[in-house]
Amino acid sequence: MALLVGVVSQKGGVGKSTIARMVAREYAQAGWRIKIADLDISQGTSFNWQARRLQNKVTPDVPVERFGTLALAQKVASSYDLLVLDGPPHATEGTLAIAKASQLTILPTGLALDDLEPQVLLAHELTRRGVPAARLAFVLVRVGDSDVEQNDARAYLTRAGYSVLAGYLPEKVGYRRASDEGRAATETRFPSLNQRADELAQAVVDRVSTVTREEAA
Ligand SMILES: Nc1ncnc2c1ncn2[C@@H]1O[C@H](COP(=O)(O)OP(=O)(O)OP(=O)(O)O)[C@@H](O)[C@H]1O
Ligand SMILES: [Mg+2]
Repeated sequence: MALLVGVVSQKGGVGKSTIARMVAREYAQAGWRIKIADLDISQGTSFNWQARRLQNKVTPDVPVERFGTLALAQKVASSYDLLVLDGPPHATEGTLAIAKASQLTILPTGLALDDLEPQVLLAHELTRRGVPAARLAFVLVRVGDSDVEQNDARAYLTRAGYSVLAGYLPEKVGYRRASDEGRAATETRFPSLNQRADELAQAVVDRVSTVTREEAA
């Protein structure tokens, strides 16, 4: 049975698809049999990204399939080592189902309270409805130049009772341009941006390893 990593949010446009593609690409590069389950059928962002990836002949292959529900995605899970669940734009009942099924659920957020507050409310709702907080991990995306702002955001999330992964994605045109070419955040034309994304991807991989090791114990 595949490991499941969910990427969800309360608000739209926070970076779910960007993170989902970065994580999937990382495992694909390591030789895992992976698939992105694009559960955002209204937009199909990751599905369309894969089409660009194929057109531009970018390797490794990162297969993406659209599924109307989590249950449909789970039906194909036995064929993979890892399914990355790219969640719908806004939190729905399906979001809870994703978090309940996933070994790790990633909550991307920007640094403003406008972004942090709804994402923390979603995390509270998920834990209230039975998802262990240890299976949730916040990641900081679209981060600006201020270390103070980033530290404040990390402190806010920690105080709320959640872990924030090491690393972050800065707000950079280079990430958008890479996405336009069907590339992941670790595959931009800029080594410094790739290194930033690599650090974050590694933090995700480490957390997935920790969670699955603890569950096996
Ligand atoms: N670090 C970044 N720097 C610059 N642009 C970014 C960054 N991360 C994401 N973006 C851009 O922000 C937009 C939203 O990102 P993305 O599609 O990953 O969010 P999402 O949460 O999946 O959105 P939706 O809720 O619509 O599914 C995209 O245009 C993406 O290219
Ligand atoms: Mg998306």
